[in-house]
Amino acid sequence: MEDLSKLENVTILDHPLIQHKISRLRDKSTGTAEFRKLVNEIAMLMGYEALRDLETENVEIETPIEKTMAPVLAGKKQAVVPILRAGLGMTDGILSLLPAAKVGHIGLYRDEETHKPHAYYCKLPEPISLRTIIVTDPMLATGGSAIDAINFIKEKGGKKIKFMCIIAAPEGLKALCEAHPDIQIYVGHVDRQLNENAYICPGLGDAGDRIFGTK
Ligand code: PRP
Ligand code: URA
Repeated sequence: MEDLSKLENVTILDHPLIQHKISRLRDKSTGTAEFRKLVNEIAMLMGYEALRDLETENVEIETPIEKTMAPVLAGKKQAVVPILRAGLGMTDGILSLLPAAKVGHIGLYRDEETHKPHAYYCKLPEPISLRTIIVTDPMLATGGSAIDAINFIKEKGGKKIKFMCIIAAPEGLKALCEAHPDIQIYVGHVDRQLNENAYICPGLGDAGDRIFGTK
C-alpha cells in the first residue's frame, strides 16, 4: 500500500507525548477512568497542531502600558462534531482549546455482521457552512463511519472540515482520503491492518466500550 502519510491532506501527529499516551490507551490493563483522561489529553495535544491554521484578525487592546493591535481568532465560532459514541471522549480535549466552540453530534453505529455504519442522529450548529468543523472519532477502521459522517456534514453545507482520529487502519485512511480528498485528516498513529471482524490491529479494542465502561 502507498505511504499514506505522504498525502498532502493527511498529518500524522507523531509527537512523543501523543505516542506515549496512545501506548497507555492500547494497554488492556488501563481502566476506564485513565482511558477517558488519556483520550481527552491526546485530543487536546492533537488539536493544538490541527488548529494551527485557524484564522486570526488584529484587534485593538489596551495593555497596562499602552494600546496595541493584537491577534484574536477570527470568524464564526468553530464546530466540534463527535461521532457518537466514542468521538464524545475527545470533545472536552478540543473544547479546552476552543471553549466557545459549538458542538454538533452525529450518531452512527457499526453493524456487527456487515461492519457497515447505521445513522441514528445528526444535529449540527448553524450556519455550519461558515464554521471550521472538527470531526472527532478515536478509531478509523474501515472508514465507513467517518465517510458517512462527513457526507452528512457536507449535505448540510459544511465546507471546512477537519477529521481527527487517534488510531487509523491503513484501509480506512485510504478509503477516507479517496471519498473526501478535500478535508484535512489528523491521525495519532496508523496501525498495521484490520482483522476479520474489522477491528484495528494492534489497536486498542472497542474505543466506545473502553471510554464508557460498557461490556
Ligand atoms: C466505532 C468507532 C468508529 C467506528 C469505526 O464506533 O468509534 O465510529 O467504530 O469503524 P469504521 O471505520 O469501520 O466505520 P462503533 O460503531 O463501535 O460505535 P460506538 O462508538 O457507539 O461504540
Ligand atoms: N471500532 C473500535 O472501537 N475499534 C476498532 O478496532 C474498530 C472499530
